[in-house]
Amino acid sequence: MKLTIIGTGYVGLVTGTCLAEKGHDVLCVDNDPAKIAMLQAGQIPIYEPGLEPLIRSNVAAGRLRFTTDTAEGVRHGHVVFIGVPTPPRADGSVDMRFVERVARDVASAMTEYRIIVDKSTVPVKTGFKVAESIKRYNKAGVDFDVISNPEFMREGCAVEDQMKPERIVIGVASQRPVATMQEVYAPFNAPIIVTDINSAELIKHASNSFLALKISYANALSALCEASHANIQQVVDGIGMDKRIGRAFLNAGLGYGGSCFPKDISAFIAIAQELGCDFRLLKEVQNINANQLQRFVKRIQDTLWVLQDKVIAVLGLAFKANTDDARCSPAVDLVLALQKEGAHIRAYDPQAMEKARPLLPNVTLCADPYEAVRGADAMIIATEWDEFKELDFGRIKPLMAHPTLFDGRNLLDPMTMKNLGFTYLSVGR
Ligand code: UGA
Repeated sequence: MKLTIIGTGYVGLVTGTCLAEKGHDVLCVDNDPAKIAMLQAGQIPIYEPGLEPLIRSNVAAGRLRFTTDTAEGVRHGHVVFIGVPTPPRADGSVDMRFVERVARDVASAMTEYRIIVDKSTVPVKTGFKVAESIKRYNKAGVDFDVISNPEFMREGCAVEDQMKPERIVIGVASQRPVATMQEVYAPFNAPIIVTDINSAELIKHASNSFLALKISYANALSALCEASHANIQQVVDGIGMDKRIGRAFLNAGLGYGGSCFPKDISAFIAIAQELGCDFRLLKEVQNINANQLQRFVKRIQDTLWVLQDKVIAVLGLAFKANTDDARCSPAVDLVLALQKEGAHIRAYDPQAMEKARPLLPNVTLCADPYEAVRGADAMIIATEWDEFKELDFGRIKPLMAHPTLFDGRNLLDPMTMKNLGFTYLSVGR
């Protein structure tokens, strides 16, 4: 089927590529000419495991193309996906200007029936607003359907999540677009849930909020574990074996970050507020998240006593492993908090250094972990990259001024690190 994706960020690019991989004829549109030129030249603007070869093979097969021309996109695709950013505003609510702009552009270019699919994460009731907007700006009065089809991809494993989804949610106002959307997703062999539009939009925000809630629950427990000399990993393994709870997203650490959870939780609280509901539970999820990083900084301070002029090596800047994304990264916030206390930071990340550089102007970025720890009074693991598990700590120890390691992701084994002669502190253990 001919499909168009408007917006080639994480969501649009991965969605478009995976739809092409399943045999559809996909045209991706973006208003950034530099990005489109890059994609047309076979380069990709983000680090996402497995994505580059998939783009190359689908471009070569003629199933995936890129353009800056929205009108061409609207002519091409029977189904037009909107995957543009929905950034936060200062008060936590969602800035809808990009979605609204696309709705108007689609409306003015539309000459025959189209299904317009909202893939961006949006406040409940957006589908109706998009439909109103299209109606207003489509002077030809062409027939169309707007549907909501939220995505559930995680950065770092977005291709896998998109190729093997656990569920596909389709929110519709009538039955008319359902068969077409079932055809679009048939090759993915996943359960399809058809809901009304508002419910589909709520499913997305409610899913992310629930996952953030699980993380904050584990982080709150980690404080209790530290105070009672229990072990958070054993506790979450124990509770996670109850199928009703589940073990996933119960890893304590530096708190959740990234371009989705912090923004989506704030947005969900703001949306609830607008609808007259005070979602206090989620406000506490946010408080616990902020407090988790502060608790970690305090433990570093308690151990090192004075941070002024201490050299601290920070391994990991990405908000989580397997991505180059440093937006709202707890690792970046941690660096800033330590700098505020006067510490000198030497940092390394396998992928995120370029994207973190503008966020961290006064940090010495190092070529590898061994370079980063040279002369350091302490080192911190701030992102759970696999390569940090494999470090040669026998080599690291003599490079440091003192072998103190703060593990913000519980990546290493406490006993092994103690036996290697490190002062080792982790989260909730
Ligand atoms: C999240 C959701 O997991 C996706 O389902 C969703 O589609 C996406 O947001 C989105 O809305 O686009 P993502 O932000 O890429 O995906 O990353 P996650 O793997 O969910 O991690 C989010 C944050 O939580 C990271 O900072 C991670 O380190 C942290 N986390 C995760 C924990 O601290 N503990 C855990 O147990 C799991």
